[in-house]
Amino acid sequence: MSVRRLYSEQPEAAFAFNAENLAWAKTTITHYPPGKQASAVIPLLWRAQEQNDNWVSKPVLEYIADMLGMSYIRVLEVATFYTMFQLQPVGKIAHVQVCGTTPCMLRGAEDLKKVCQNRIHHDPHHLSADGNFSWEEVECLGACVNAPMVQIFKDTYEDLTPATLEQLIDDLAAGRKVRVGPQINRHHAAPEGGPTTLIAPGFYAGTRSFTRVEPPPPPSADAPAPAASAPAPAAKPVEAKPVAAPAPVAVAKTAEPVKLAETSPAPRKPAKAEDDGKPELLKKPKGGKGDDLKLIWGVGPKLEKMLNGMGVWHFDQIAAWTAKELAWVDAKLEGFKGRARRDDWVAQCKKLAKGWRPDSDVGEKPKKK
Ligand code: FES
Repeated sequence: MSVRRLYSEQPEAAFAFNAENLAWAKTTITHYPPGKQASAVIPLLWRAQEQNDNWVSKPVLEYIADMLGMSYIRVLEVATFYTMFQLQPVGKIAHVQVCGTTPCMLRGAEDLKKVCQNRIHHDPHHLSADGNFSWEEVECLGACVNAPMVQIFKDTYEDLTPATLEQLIDDLAAGRKVRVGPQINRHHAAPEGGPTTLIAPGFYAGTRSFTRVEPPPPPSADAPAPAASAPAPAAKPVEAKPVAAPAPVAVAKTAEPVKLAETSPAPRKPAKAEDDGKPELLKKPKGGKGDDLKLIWGVGPKLEKMLNGMGVWHFDQIAAWTAKELAWVDAKLEGFKGRARRDDWVAQCKKLAKGWRPDSDVGEKPKKK
C-alpha cells in the first residue's frame, strides 16, 4: 500500500453538509453515548465523501472534526488509515477499484489493471484526460468466488475479462445502463451455469424443509431412575451423537430403563407409560422383505436401519399410524427426532403403499393431508 497523504491541491472553499446530510449527521451523532460522539467519525466522513464528489479534502476533514469536537489530526489519522476514503479527486463517472489479491490475481486481475492503464491513466489515482475515470488496485473486496472483479463506488462487477471491463467502461462513459454483479451467466455466487445443489423444487415451494435436530425433551418428573446395577449410560447427552441404530429394539422389548436413562437419569416412570402410543411393531418383515423406506422423503439409509431395528418395515405399517403412534416413533428417532411428523410420514406412506413413487431423487414430495 502506498503512503496516503492529503492531496497536493486542496479546495479553498470551506465544506459544509447540505441540509439533508446535516439532518442525517445530527441524528447519527445521537446514536452514540454522551462524550462518545467521536465514534461517529467514520459514517460522517463517508457521507461527506459522497457529497464531496467522492473524495475527502482538507476542508472536509476540518468540518467533520469541528462537528465532532475532535482535533484535526485525529480525523486525518482515520481518513488516511482506511482506504475506503479517497484522499484525491476521483473520476466523476467511475473510480475503478481493481481487486489485486490472490484469487483475483490468479484469475486475471493483472489484465484488468492493464485495461485501466490503457483506458484511464497509466498510474493509479490519476484522472483520465476527461476527468471522468480513475482507478486503483485494492485488496480483497470479498467477491473472490467471482474473481476477477472490480468495485465502482458502491457496486461490484464480477467475473470480468479485459473485454467485458472495456465494455463496462464504454457503457459507463456513454451513460448506458450497466449490469451490476456477475458479468457472465452466474446468479450471484452460484456456480457458473446454475446451481448444482439444493435444487429440489420442494425447498422453494414450502413442501420440503431442512433437517432440524430437535433438542432433547426436558426431564419429566415421572421419568424412571437408572437401575442401580447399570450406571454406564447415565447422563449421556442425546444430541451429542445419534445412538447406534439397533438400540431401540432392546428398548422396545425389555430394557426401557437403559434407554431412558440416557436422557433422564432421575425419577422412575411406570413401564406402561413408555408404551403409550406405541404402534404395532414387527419382529421381522412381512414376506421376508421390507419396503424401501428410503423412498420416504428425508429417510436415508441410517434412518431406515433405525426404523427396521425398531420393527418398522412397511409403508402400510406407517400409513396406519395414528397421530399418537407417529409421535411415539418420532420420539424414538435418536438424532432425527421430529422428522416423522415434520415430513408427514403417514401421508407419504399412504401414497407409497398404493404404489406412488417419487419422480426422481429430487422429485416432488407427496402433499400433506
Ligand atoms: S481476492 Fe478479489 S475479491 Fe477477494
